Amino acid sequence: MIKLGPGRLVVASHNAGKVREINELLGPLGIAPVSAAELGLPEPDEIGTTFAANAELKARQAADLSGLPAIADDSGLCVEALGNRPGIFSARWALAADPRVPPAEGPGSAEGPRDFGLAMRRVQEELKALGPEASRDAHFVCALAVCWPDGRSELFEGRVDGQLVWPPRGDRGFGYDPMFVPAGYDLTFGEMDPADKHAISHRAAAFAKLVAALG
Ligand code: IMP
Repeated sequence: MIKLGPGRLVVASHNAGKVREINELLGPLGIAPVSAAELGLPEPDEIGTTFAANAELKARQAADLSGLPAIADDSGLCVEALGNRPGIFSARWALAADPRVPPAEGPGSAEGPRDFGLAMRRVQEELKALGPEASRDAHFVCALAVCWPDGRSELFEGRVDGQLVWPPRGDRGFGYDPMFVPAGYDLTFGEMDPADKHAISHRAAAFAKLVAALG
């Protein structure tokens, strides 16, 4: 296993919020992250069928094109009664298309404004259609991939289990946070103090593994 010593690391994401969060998590390691957007790197199509595959293809492309080590993440919400959907299509379910048309789930990333109120309603409607006995168990997953230009790569995954509630509660998080209550808590991720969410989240768990292995 190679260590991530001080030096430049490409954060293979064009999402400013994600880049900031990764910068904050890696800062204590003395790493100077540079974003894929700053280097003018293209965004690959997310054609993988798992979180891990999508994280790895983003990091691999950035490492190959930049000649620097690169990190990428992929995450989403898995609803157990829905066969773990929306899963890798979590962002896609928020595309504000005609709400009567189910979101496309083919390979590649779809562009457009996101509406997570709509995405949460889609989840709730599908659960409601299964009847009152349907399990409301769900989990968030985060896969983190680090790839080096010489071909090596490492993968770290984190997960947080919980239950889905309706109606959504709280405006402190993002995405599906307002309908997710982590196991052992009464508040949704949308109601919780962000510091409390960061202590138990899927992303924090994946980063803790990364720091333990490479830090
Ligand atoms: P991606 O990793 O950028 O492909 O997008 C993952 C999607 O999963 C986000 O757009 C969110 O909708 C959802 N997601 C991932 N992590 C969280 C979280 O911590 N809270 C709420 N939603 C999340």
